[in-house]
Order: sequence, then C-alpha cells, then structure tokens
Amino acid sequence: MLEIQKFDKIIAANWKLQGSFDFVKRYLDELNSNILEKQGVCSIVCPPSIYLHKLVNNLKSIFLGAQDCSNYNSGAYTGEVSANMLKELSCNFCIVGHSERRKIFKQSNKDICLKAKNLLDQSIHPIICIGETLEEKNKNLTKEVLFNQISKSIPNNGSKNSVILAYEPIWAIGTSLTPSLEEINDIHYFIKNEIQNFKNYKVIYGGSVKSNNATNIMELNNVDGVLVGGASLDPLEFRKIMNS
Ligand code: PGA
Repeated sequence: MLEIQKFDKIIAANWKLQGSFDFVKRYLDELNSNILEKQGVCSIVCPPSIYLHKLVNNLKSIFLGAQDCSNYNSGAYTGEVSANMLKELSCNFCIVGHSERRKIFKQSNKDICLKAKNLLDQSIHPIICIGETLEEKNKNLTKEVLFNQISKSIPNNGSKNSVILAYEPIWAIGTSLTPSLEEINDIHYFIKNEIQNFKNYKVIYGGSVKSNNATNIMELNNVDGVLVGGASLDPLEFRKIMNS
C-alpha cells in the first residue's frame, strides 16, 4: 500500500455520474499538459468505474480512485463492482460512504465498514465519507453524528496508515456554502484527536471546494487535503486546486 501518512496533502476529484469517452480524452489532455508543481501532494481522480480503464496508465503523477465498491467479493450480485476488480484496474483509492450513496442508495455504516474491509484486503485505501445534515448541525449534533459514523464504519483491519476520512457536511455539498474556516478546523481537530482508537487519521474536507477557497481551507492545521466534486470536472480548475 502507499504510505499515506507521508503526504502533506491529499486532493481527490469526485466526478460523480459525469463523463463520456470524449470528456475523458479532453480531461487527460488538459491535466497532462502541465506537470504538477507541488511536492508532497497525493492527487487522485475518481471517475465512474466504466472510465477507469481509460485513465489507467494515462495520468501523470496522479492516482486512480473509484467512487464505491460492492459489499461482496463475487457471486450473484448483478450490477456490482468488487474491490478485487478495482485492484485489477490499478485503483489505489476508493470513496465509500459518500452521503449520496448513504441517502439515495440507503447504505448504512455497516455496509460502509464491509466495503472498506474488502478494499483494505485488496490494498486499496478507502476514503470514508462522514458528515452531518443541516438539521443535525442546527441541533448541535455534529460531533455525535461524526463519532457514530467513524466508530461504526472503520473496519478492524483499518488504521491511520490505510484509511482516509473525508469530512463532508451534507449541507455544503454542491451548494456553494461552506462552514467557516474556524468551524472546519475545529471539526477536523475533533476527528483527529478526540475519538478513542481512531487518532491521527488523515482527514480531508469536502463540500463546495473551489480554487478560490482551496488555499485557505488547506492551510488550516488540521486539514490534510480536499475532496472536490463539481469543481473537479474542469481540469484547469482542478489543477489550480492541486497547486493551491
Ligand atoms: P462539491 O461535492 O465539491 O460539488 O460540493 C463534493 C462531494 O460531493 O464530494
């Protein structure tokens, strides 16, 4: 596995359900036209799994990630993609537990724990997403929600060297809203330091990250990088974020 603790920053692009063969070609052309200037940055692109084979071996100094994997390793599970299949496509990372998958596809912490275990068995780093709704935030339940998600979704074979946590407040995803810098730093401090058995994990922030706020967010002491949705679809914008 990669030594994720040695990276200063981890910057991941989540394309969600977007792309086409033509889009992949243009994206690669743009992204590869300039080498990344920053040292110590682990950059990751997570396209829909159907496009992974188009990106593998064609990304310069950027790792490949998937957006989800099956709870199962093989068998009669129509429509699923397993962790070992992602391994064959040279994925080093896989997002699991994104709030869209938790909400729309009814994935539970138990499902996410199973997926993360399967990924770790294949030496793929899970990027486990956690985050509160606006209602939970307004009721002051953020830390309780995060504690529950973290303690139930990190599998026994996970460690700070293998698992990345992505703090994504649900109300900040795709809305152009973000918590204040102080709030982000405070929540990341809580995640990194105050949960027994899960200390010093890499914690990246996601939710309306763009090139104009990425530098300020990534300069925060407790922020180890960003997970970028909408803004990652523009390769120039994503490169700016990688160079932030
Ligand atoms: P956004 O999405 O950057 O478009 O807010 C982030 C995510 O869903 O991971």
